[in-house]
Amino acid sequence: MVLAPIRTMASRPYLEWIGTNKGDGMTTSALTHGTAGDALSPAPLMQLATGFYSFETFATAVELGLFTRLAGGRRVTVEELAAEFGFAHRPADLLLVACASLGLLEKDGDAYRNAPLAEEYLVAGRPAYFGGFVRFCEHREYLGWHKLIDALRGDRPVTWDPETQDSLFSDVDPVMLELFWEAMHSLSMSTAACLADAYDFAGHTRLLDVGGGSGAFPIVLCRRHPHLRATVYDLPHVCEQARQKIDAAGLGGKVTTQAGDFRDQRGLPEAHDVILLSNILHDWDERTGRDLLTACHRALVPGGVVLISELLLNSERTGPPAAALMGMNMLVETVGGKNYSGDELTSWLTDAGFHGVQIIEIDAAGANGVVVARKQ
Ligand SMILES: C[S@@+](CC[C@H](N)C(=O)[O-])C[C@H]1O[C@@H](n2cnc3c(N)ncnc32)[C@H](O)[C@@H]1O
Repeated sequence: MVLAPIRTMASRPYLEWIGTNKGDGMTTSALTHGTAGDALSPAPLMQLATGFYSFETFATAVELGLFTRLAGGRRVTVEELAAEFGFAHRPADLLLVACASLGLLEKDGDAYRNAPLAEEYLVAGRPAYFGGFVRFCEHREYLGWHKLIDALRGDRPVTWDPETQDSLFSDVDPVMLELFWEAMHSLSMSTAACLADAYDFAGHTRLLDVGGGSGAFPIVLCRRHPHLRATVYDLPHVCEQARQKIDAAGLGGKVTTQAGDFRDQRGLPEAHDVILLSNILHDWDERTGRDLLTACHRALVPGGVVLISELLLNSERTGPPAAALMGMNMLVETVGGKNYSGDELTSWLTDAGFHGVQIIEIDAAGANGVVVARKQ
């Protein structure tokens, strides 16, 4: 197991980050340095301002099922795509060119096919299908972010009403029910695979996934480690969704669900030797997070370990962008949530009675680090 302090985590500025993600050497360099010759260029600002061009092109292609249609190496010309979707030649051409420019499609002669990223993550039905997260952004988050100024001024969520609802998750809003846990599943299947590579579960036998959502982590981890048993602990309506995913994965004998509320004073289920908190703490304020870590400490068997998987801020509080911008998303979506630094979580864990806090860097869509701490 490679353990590294979070201080060493790369903290690249946003423009460098999106430039790198484009996979385009020329553009990357212009974005990174913001220069055209010797003069400072506003080109990076144009890229920031038009980020929604990229997202809407991407989200619409996902919604249309474009990448699913091209699964398995199928090639499509502009004329063929136009006929399939009932589009005129111009929009079909523009969509294919734009998706190619984003690195989602590749040109092959006069036709286009999925780039490797699209083939692996954007074909519906694949194990790590990412489309659920894209659909959640399109149908819920974009609308919320349009009211960001209200969230900043009011220090309150703008996607739901804390006056009439207990929390973001107690919602029975059908859009949220349909989209949110599918989005988390999309994000967490690949993140769980990164966790399985980074942390060795061989020494553990019973995992408690607190706020485990769809059960993505137990599904991946119990497949990887056949000796492991797991419990998804979540709200009752979420356990129902997890049950379906677990049964579909054929893991009904190894992964159980337990409905409950982790803010309940009665505490968490006991007799587990590893507790996972994946994208939980950033949903809540510091007091709630600290109380939850104390409850984890109480519930774990002696020698047990807690793992916190999140997008962590750096110690300098300048990034990385994925964590800082997810923090802004917590402003839009939660009461009191924010993305925390490894240093902050280290001090909470120590105060809760844990020892030997270490941080493992990972490079996943849903987390850049895993904070590990042990109960003596
Ligand atoms: C951001 S999601 C993370 C899901 C999962 N850990 C993952 O990474 O895919 C937060 C989860 O916490 C659950 N949750 C929220 N409040 C809870 C509570 N009071 N008790 C138990 N679970 C809760 C939500 O239902 C949701 O599944």
